[in-house]
Amino acid sequence: MVVELASSHPGFADPVYRARRNDIAALALNYRPGTPIPAAEYTAQEHEIWAVVSRELAVKHDRYATAEYLEGAARLGLPRDRIPQLEEVSLALEPLTGFRYVPAAGLVPLRDFYGVLADGLFHSTQYIRHHSVPFYTPEPDVIHEVIGHANALAHDRYAALYRLAGAAARRVESEEALEFVSKVFWFTLEFGVMRERGELRAYGAGILSSYGEIEEFRGMDIRPLDVAAMGTTHYDITKYQDVLFQADSLQHLEDVVGDFWATCDDDSIAKLVATAV
Ligand SMILES: [Fe+2]
Repeated sequence: MVVELASSHPGFADPVYRARRNDIAALALNYRPGTPIPAAEYTAQEHEIWAVVSRELAVKHDRYATAEYLEGAARLGLPRDRIPQLEEVSLALEPLTGFRYVPAAGLVPLRDFYGVLADGLFHSTQYIRHHSVPFYTPEPDVIHEVIGHANALAHDRYAALYRLAGAAARRVESEEALEFVSKVFWFTLEFGVMRERGELRAYGAGILSSYGEIEEFRGMDIRPLDVAAMGTTHYDITKYQDVLFQADSLQHLEDVVGDFWATCDDDSIAKLVATAV
């Protein structure tokens, strides 16, 4: 297994890091559903990246994360001093909300990634970012997948929203409708923000796993929660997200986005697209 990295990737010119990436990707390729997720032998340096980032993020979460995300984090109790194995995360999560982790070697096709959320399965990368820039990653690494997503998946109400997104991805047939569903996921479960106790807080995994973005989101272009707008707004994954959509509360998110995912089909999405232009 050879993992391709862009020439701008912090680990591009580091042969040791590239060999690690290939080894870790091979673990996912060898994984068989129903068996334990193969353990990655992380180095002391890799555990240290997790420890540094996880400590800093925990401080920021107290200030910027929603109450339910913090509740999920408290229930899950991720280690702060070392990278947990995905199997360990999965075993801790399953009794809480039924979600389990599945290792992914790289990018998973949209329909598979989202579809299996309906079954309570979450595809996750297993590698960690390059040590030269511990607070930055150009792609989702284990810090994003576990600190960002598992803490949310440990709360029943967020877990229910992930399942609904999965059911929607399975229900729609056209690629356009699938992309619309995935964009709504992007602007909510990845980059969603919410009014809470008079201030703006984040519940999206992309914000809550990004040391830089978490300090910036309150200053972004904050728009009202609107499914048609989210499903048709363009985004660039390589930059900080400058357009964010705000729910008034978790109940509001469930009413607007949860209901959309629970009921949408190709026709209803085509109508939403027509109203958005
Ligand atoms: Fe993510």
